[in-house]
Amino acid sequence: CSRSPRERFPPLTASTEGSAARGLAGEVSRRRTFAVISHPDAGKSTLTEALALHARKISEAGAIHGKAGRKSTVSDWMEMEKARGISVSSTALQFNYRAAGSDIDNVINLVDTPGHSDFSEDTYRVLTAVDAAVMLIDAAKGLEPQTLKLFQVCRHRGIPVITVINKWDRPGRAPLELLDEIEERIGLTPTPLFLPVGIAGDFRGLLRRGPEGAAAEYIHFTRTAGGATIAPEESLTPESAEAREAAAWTTAAEESELLSATGQDHDQEMFLAGQTSPVIYASAMLNFGVRQLLETLVELAPAPGSRADTGGSPRTPQDPFSAVVFKVQAGMDTAHRDRLAFMRIVSGEFERGMVVTHAQTGRPFATKYALTIFGRERETVDTAYPGDVVGLVNATALAPGHTLFVDKKVEFPPIPSFAPEHFAALRARSAGKYKQFRKAIDQLDSEGVVQVLRNDSRGDASPVLAAVGPMQFEVVTARMQGEFGVETQLDHLAYTIARRTDADSAPELDRQRGVEVFTRSDGAILAVFSDKWRLQYIQKEMPKLTLEPLVAAA
Ligand code: G4P
Repeated sequence: CSRSPRERFPPLTASTEGSAARGLAGEVSRRRTFAVISHPDAGKSTLTEALALHARKISEAGAIHGKAGRKSTVSDWMEMEKARGISVSSTALQFNYRAAGSDIDNVINLVDTPGHSDFSEDTYRVLTAVDAAVMLIDAAKGLEPQTLKLFQVCRHRGIPVITVINKWDRPGRAPLELLDEIEERIGLTPTPLFLPVGIAGDFRGLLRRGPEGAAAEYIHFTRTAGGATIAPEESLTPESAEAREAAAWTTAAEESELLSATGQDHDQEMFLAGQTSPVIYASAMLNFGVRQLLETLVELAPAPGSRADTGGSPRTPQDPFSAVVFKVQAGMDTAHRDRLAFMRIVSGEFERGMVVTHAQTGRPFATKYALTIFGRERETVDTAYPGDVVGLVNATALAPGHTLFVDKKVEFPPIPSFAPEHFAALRARSAGKYKQFRKAIDQLDSEGVVQVLRNDSRGDASPVLAAVGPMQFEVVTARMQGEFGVETQLDHLAYTIARRTDADSAPELDRQRGVEVFTRSDGAILAVFSDKWRLQYIQKEMPKLTLEPLVAAA
């Protein structure tokens, strides 16, 4: 890598006039759609605010934060959410950003993931809707469990990852030690674009790495009160930086050369192939490094590309309109009890009011009510392009993984179900409510709220719910009561791990202690185990049995 990212990837050249002049290709090339993957408390909400602040979408940081006790605009679609001050919903924030030296406005779609420690399948599904991910790491804590799980999904889906090491304004670990941890634990080669000047807790600015690790520029930041406004930046030459910062600068410059010596320079192809990850050190709270992240997204993250359909043929962004539903959420608006389906546009131009076809039923679907939603803000969308996320109101037939299209039929592969780790049997408290109970289970199952497992011995009256995070159970019981008027009894089961098996292996597995076999509603046969030792023992004793890991088995 001998040139800086900007030289290697010149700014896009589409004009700044209206969409008509820009055309579909221009609209696609200026878009970037990404999600932030992180462990709770790493600073995802703070970073989201900081990004929006830079994009001038909101005037003051803090306006979209979802933590209890703060000014909050997070969705309050369920009482449960309000009580906990968290967002269960995944929505998308869209803003414009014009990179330095560019004459076009990029459109950034930040698809939000639920901000609670208790991850659910929704979190994973969001990653099917993005083209890149930002892995946010706390400088003092390094890689944490939820980050690792989400990273595995990115790897599985081939999503390129940009790493942000956050909270550099606070005491933390050494910069290179954090990089080593990433390399060793997940086999992703970190290639910093910027290194911190000043140790963790004494964050003065960033060294921009040039060809072969030579320091190209020093970006000095000035703190603003409470980090509520953009931190002023000053650009200095390496010589002036050394005169000003002395040892803090020379340490960073040496580290940069060391990294080059081990080949840790940015390489666009390796990044897109998911083998390396550009790294930025930042403080989301002080807005340090946030502009650099936006520039990196614009310069390096891929624009929306093709997606293979079920037959394996690529649907390119230039093709007629098509979209994939990646999330369905009911009851966001208690006054209307509406049901929203969020779709990610894959190809073509979307115009509100257009009639599209729902691939799974072959039925026409009118798109009169199309919205973008973030927190409490709902705005009507009139046009949207590949990479954008649009919420469709009252989309009763739509479920995650479904396809919408115009013209010639296209269908995208279903979103995989993720490996459940929590299991509970559910039944109606009153036998008289059995009919409603069944209807509700089918409904929640089709929305992808939870996985529904059945076997003969438990019968239909007491199916087993399988979840990635236990909060999915709370959503089920709350909706059972609130929407369907069915009070339910949930009994947690002592299983923690699931494997896919087949009809030949099922009878033998069912005879084993600590194992139960189920059929999931998509037809998959799953064997669930009390713990990994039980699973390992059975695999060792009966190596002929089919036992395959499910997606995102962490
Ligand atoms: P999350 O969405 O990933 O869960 O994290 P969130 O942004 O809520 O941040 C978690 C805590 O970390 C917050 O502190 C937040 O202020 C703090 N934080 C985030 N980014 C930075 C940073 O760059 N530097 C420092 N020093 N702190 C950061 P809190 O105590 O939970 O809330 P608050 O009282 O500070 O508002």
